[in-house]
Amino acid sequence: MRQSSLVVVANRLPVDDNIAPDGACEWRRSPGGLVSALHAILEHTTATWVGWSGATGPAVPLPAIGGISLRPVSFSDADFAHYYEGFANSTLWPLYHDAVEQPTYHRSWWDAYQRVNQRFAEAAAEVAAENAVVWVQDYHLQLVPALLREMRPDLLIGFFMHVPFPPPELFMQLPRRAELLRGLLGADLVGFQRAQAAHNFAQLCTKVLGLTATDRRIAVDDRFVRTGAFPVSIDVAEMEALSGRPDVQARARQIRTDLGEPRHVLLSVDRLDYTKGIEHRLKAYSELLEDGLVKVRDTVMVQVAVPSRERVEHYAILRDRVEREVGRINGEFGRVGEPAIHYLNQPFDRAELAALYQAADVMVVTPLRDGMNLVAKEYVAARVDGAGVLVLSEFAGAAAELDRSFLVNPHDLEGLKRSLIDAIDCPKAERVERMGAMRAHLRQHDIRDWARNYLTALDDSGTLAERLTA
Ligand code: ADP
Ligand code: G6P
Repeated sequence: MRQSSLVVVANRLPVDDNIAPDGACEWRRSPGGLVSALHAILEHTTATWVGWSGATGPAVPLPAIGGISLRPVSFSDADFAHYYEGFANSTLWPLYHDAVEQPTYHRSWWDAYQRVNQRFAEAAAEVAAENAVVWVQDYHLQLVPALLREMRPDLLIGFFMHVPFPPPELFMQLPRRAELLRGLLGADLVGFQRAQAAHNFAQLCTKVLGLTATDRRIAVDDRFVRTGAFPVSIDVAEMEALSGRPDVQARARQIRTDLGEPRHVLLSVDRLDYTKGIEHRLKAYSELLEDGLVKVRDTVMVQVAVPSRERVEHYAILRDRVEREVGRINGEFGRVGEPAIHYLNQPFDRAELAALYQAADVMVVTPLRDGMNLVAKEYVAARVDGAGVLVLSEFAGAAAELDRSFLVNPHDLEGLKRSLIDAIDCPKAERVERMGAMRAHLRQHDIRDWARNYLTALDDSGTLAERLTA
């Protein structure tokens, strides 16, 4: 495989293999915010993306996507169970999201995490040209920066954490906390979504490793590791272009017709994850129906929930509970041909998502904790008509920027119900004013702006940022 001057290393490749109903294997864009963000900036450049295809067994060579060469990393069944489902998604994911579910610690998971991080570092070292930039992504790969620096001191190494980075009182639970911090400190720049996360990291480096650290730089051996906040964003132009397409607008009208022409359409789009606050939202909606404040013929809710990490116990339990609750609500409040909630488990292409966003009067995004939440940003970008109202959790990273949404604490059921009603009843002039302010902000802070800020901080010569974001 040829060597690249830019290498992205992420657990997921931007495509994953998916078994079609007829048993055939088809490739489609993989789920989640990380892939949405990076795909948008890399598609016009030449780079190599090191990652996992979503299947276990020997890695299958994959064709390039435009200028992006794909370098698959293989997972055995044990890697999948202990590294991906185990340490990454049953230890780190819950811990980094405020421990909204109990994190689990197993020594064999840590061993698998080290082993798989080593394999990712070796793959990156193999495809990186001399003096290349290697950009490591997210909580799955926190040991890669130090491993890579050891193998290839010539590289410029960046790390970006897409999820929250927890406060010391939570991080200190990790049995191997010092190793994880040392792994990250192998990077030249460690980027986070929020300034608070960079602060947490600096505090931990002092507390656990005894290093001299500020929120901007940490002294390690004979060098400084820089840190900072770089709130990730979306491809605003892509979403606007999609939303302006006549076929997408016609599809949005068709969706409203199919829903029975209600006065108000409420929409939520999430991975089926316990951090997304799906149960809190369903409870609030159910109580509004029960109180008679929302009527089924008048208002419909559409909940898109793509299954995720399905064999992990917390996810399987969540799916059961959500499906039981949707069934209960529809059984109690729906009528023939008029369910209270339209519940969809399918992945959609970008055009269908844009149509759904346009069809929704109120977008309801209520995570209990989220690094950013790109769905909230996509909804704002899709409203080229300037209409639409966003209800957004204070605990999403996006809340700091989308502060003209109806901000809610999803744990406060009465507050959530009140905000849903306020959003439904929001007068047109106020909707337009709020949406206009958020759209103006997003236009200034899109995915290219994020990449430019991060890469300029990483490589102060500016050449890389210029190449990627031109
Ligand atoms: P997370 O990264 O935790 O999944 P985000 O909201 O940041 O949450 O990102 C989710 C991404 O996945 C968005 O880009 C969104 O458009 C995409 N997505 C969510 N649901 C679907 C779906 N049903 N089909 C296709 N893409 C989806
Ligand atoms: C979040 C994480 C990503 C991850 C995505 C989908 O966005 O930050 O790293 O890829 O969720 O999760 P999955 O486990 O399916 O890769």
